Amino acid sequence: MLLNLAGFISFLITVSECKTSQSDRHNVRKFPEGFMFGTSTAAYQVEGGWDADGKTENIWDHMTHADPCLIADCSNGDVAGDSYHQYKRDVEMMRELGIDFYRFSISWSRILPTSFPDKINEAGAQHYSDFIDEMLKYNIEPMVTLYHWDLPQRLQDLGGWANPHIADWFADYARVVYRLYGDRVKYWITINEPKAVCYQGYGSDTKAPRVNVKGVGEYLCAKNLMLAHAKAYHIYDQEFRPKYNGSIFISLSAQYFEPETDKEIEAADISNEFEWSAWAHPIFSETGDFPKVFKERIAAKSAEQGFFRSRLPEFTPEEVEFVKGTSDFFGLNHYSTYLVYKNDSEVGRYEIPSFNDDRGNIHYQPDHWEHGASDFLKVVPWGFYKLLTKIRKDYNNPVVIITENGYSNHGGLDDDDRIAYQRKYQSAMLDAIDEGSNIAGYSVWSLMDNFEWMQGYTERFGLYEVDYESPERTRTPRKSAFVYKHTVRTRALDWHYDPGTTVMTIDERH
Ligand code: BGC
Repeated sequence: MLLNLAGFISFLITVSECKTSQSDRHNVRKFPEGFMFGTSTAAYQVEGGWDADGKTENIWDHMTHADPCLIADCSNGDVAGDSYHQYKRDVEMMRELGIDFYRFSISWSRILPTSFPDKINEAGAQHYSDFIDEMLKYNIEPMVTLYHWDLPQRLQDLGGWANPHIADWFADYARVVYRLYGDRVKYWITINEPKAVCYQGYGSDTKAPRVNVKGVGEYLCAKNLMLAHAKAYHIYDQEFRPKYNGSIFISLSAQYFEPETDKEIEAADISNEFEWSAWAHPIFSETGDFPKVFKERIAAKSAEQGFFRSRLPEFTPEEVEFVKGTSDFFGLNHYSTYLVYKNDSEVGRYEIPSFNDDRGNIHYQPDHWEHGASDFLKVVPWGFYKLLTKIRKDYNNPVVIITENGYSNHGGLDDDDRIAYQRKYQSAMLDAIDEGSNIAGYSVWSLMDNFEWMQGYTERFGLYEVDYESPERTRTPRKSAFVYKHTVRTRALDWHYDPGTTVMTIDERH
């Protein structure tokens, strides 16, 4: 059984006792007692069945069908890994790895074909019910994300996350899902990565729905999304937690920003605030609200630019209270790190107004940093350690669950590059734990290859390779799957473990 809130006291004691000696650093390092291991995916990236059994269109269906070659390989998620039909094989893979939990997301338009609670799609609802039961049958804890970027297109037609009514629409959807699965799901994540939803979807054209109203869209989205999250939290907290005793939290993406030199400390602070504190502060700080620097910079720039009010809509004092404290854990998705400097002579580099101009710094990753297939994915484990340390210090050492960490390449079963990345990042995490960070769990992105958004299938993140040419989307374990299995089984990071086999069997615990 995984940790519940009451279990944390003993967990925290164990964490502080579990100091790994320096001499273990390069051999075997133990994870704390009770530490949870998992893997993650998201509905649009693996499910397929895009119009199966009454599912309606979401913003990714809409965008990829309207303009296929916006995606690097002109592909889409219509079939993807076909998990809608292959879910039993997915659970078998979880059993092979021996993981404690599986993080996956529910597709809003599969459950609610009108987007609203007037009609529940029974077949879609049954699918997730069967999937959850299949996991529970083998003691794998489902960790459910309510929203991982696949907004029903009908809601987008009404403005999507830029429409303040979305807080109610999302809350209604959440209530339906809690009613359906609340008796069996103990770990709920409201929203995956507010920064990506708002900035990429509304302040740029790098993710659906590509609204791209820079300097305005992302901030309307930010406030509405935080209120939507908080409503979904309170509904669970008040109506469902008393009966089911589960936990509910949000997953924030946080890449880390490191000052290029000692002169750039303030610039790096601002970049970290714009990147992730903007979303962490309203929930995890004692004062609540968006961070002061974030509010002040956007307000000052807005005034200079002739706006009559800040482009960032403010929370009322009641809303500040409503959002504050609405996450049982700090869900963290982390992949990489950037260096930061401020260069006034480069003013004008970004569009005005825009999020990037409001933030005002230059970010880069040196060419000599090792990298994976994704441009942004440079291997910088010390950044992970620094980020975890900053979260501990800035937010009073919250209990963190790493809901995503992973590495992309271009495919192949011999993925020593992925193994090296995972080991280095897990070791950095153990360094933070040694110094007192409360990290309760770690989830690899991803269980299997999937539709990597604008990169389609050109970048592979899976512990299991998916053969997209085969009708059943055959999954084959990569070397990294064997190594992760060993980590989960021994509850230790072993720098030298070599699986030396390609035969995968069900782990003895499942
Ligand atoms: C997202 C995933 C994505 C991964 C790798 C995360 O930000 O939540 O959906 O596949 O990054 O890019």
